[in-house]
Amino acid sequence: MADGSVVVVGGTVGLGRELAQAYADDGREVVVTGREQGRAESSAGEIGGATSGIGFDLAAPQTIADALADVGPVDHLVLAAIERDVNKVQEYDIEAALRLVTLKLVGYTEVIHTLLPRLGENSSILIFGGLARDRPYPGSTTVTTVNGGVTSMVRTLVIELAPIRVNAIHPAIVGDSPQWIDMPPERRQALEQRTPIGRLVTMAEVVGASRFLLENQAINGINLAVDGGWICM
Ligand SMILES: NC(=O)c1ccc[n+]([C@@H]2O[C@H](COP(=O)([O-])OP(=O)(O)OC[C@H]3O[C@@H](n4cnc5c(N)ncnc54)[C@H](OP(=O)(O)O)[C@@H]3O)[C@@H](O)[C@H]2O)c1
Repeated sequence: MADGSVVVVGGTVGLGRELAQAYADDGREVVVTGREQGRAESSAGEIGGATSGIGFDLAAPQTIADALADVGPVDHLVLAAIERDVNKVQEYDIEAALRLVTLKLVGYTEVIHTLLPRLGENSSILIFGGLARDRPYPGSTTVTTVNGGVTSMVRTLVIELAPIRVNAIHPAIVGDSPQWIDMPPERRQALEQRTPIGRLVTMAEVVGASRFLLENQAINGINLAVDGGWICM
């Protein structure tokens, strides 16, 4: 087994938490982070095993180095946090847009900068984007832009951080994720009809694809859509 922990930034709920749970169930040391220390610690306790929790705000990047000071060697680093921002240009909410842009583009990068001395040459990084980069909708301008930014970040980080591997995953709507589990049935059916596999992708499928990107030593610089073929429709 590899030395070092699995750090999941945005691992207190949702897809990040599901991935953290999978590694904790394998007996790995896991660190999950969210915005609040108490919530991160209680999520870590629920995940169990050798899991710890840290609270910090990615949209306040100057605070990140201190928050991560006690993290030891890192084998896999996952950047999954999101603050959703349905933000139409006609009614533009500058504060919400600044938070999302800072969180994903500067906050994620500052986490990598901070933890870099603790990553080894066989370590890997996985960044979460999303299919909104290719399939915009009204109000998605900031989300679409930052997910496009994730695509570009992968390319530059592969060059800057070599031989550390860097990949991104871009899920479509994940039907059983906390964000979407309670969507109205008519909306779910409409989305399923637009997906060639006839259903929405699942958290387990995103976890499987994430582990492939993190663990396969040949995979580097990939932006992987996990969408059941949605992009082909
Ligand atoms: N769910 C989907 O269908 C879907 C589809 C496409 C892409 N994605 C992408 O997949 C990733 C995970 O999505 P999800 O739906 O699983 O998310 P989620 O359930 O909303 O969880 C978001 C996570 O981010 C943390 N977080 C939020 N704002 C933060 C901040 N300012 N600083 C630090 N941590 C913060 C939250 O922690 P606390 O709440 O504890 O603070 C939580 O752990 C995201 O990058 C998203 O864009 C998801």
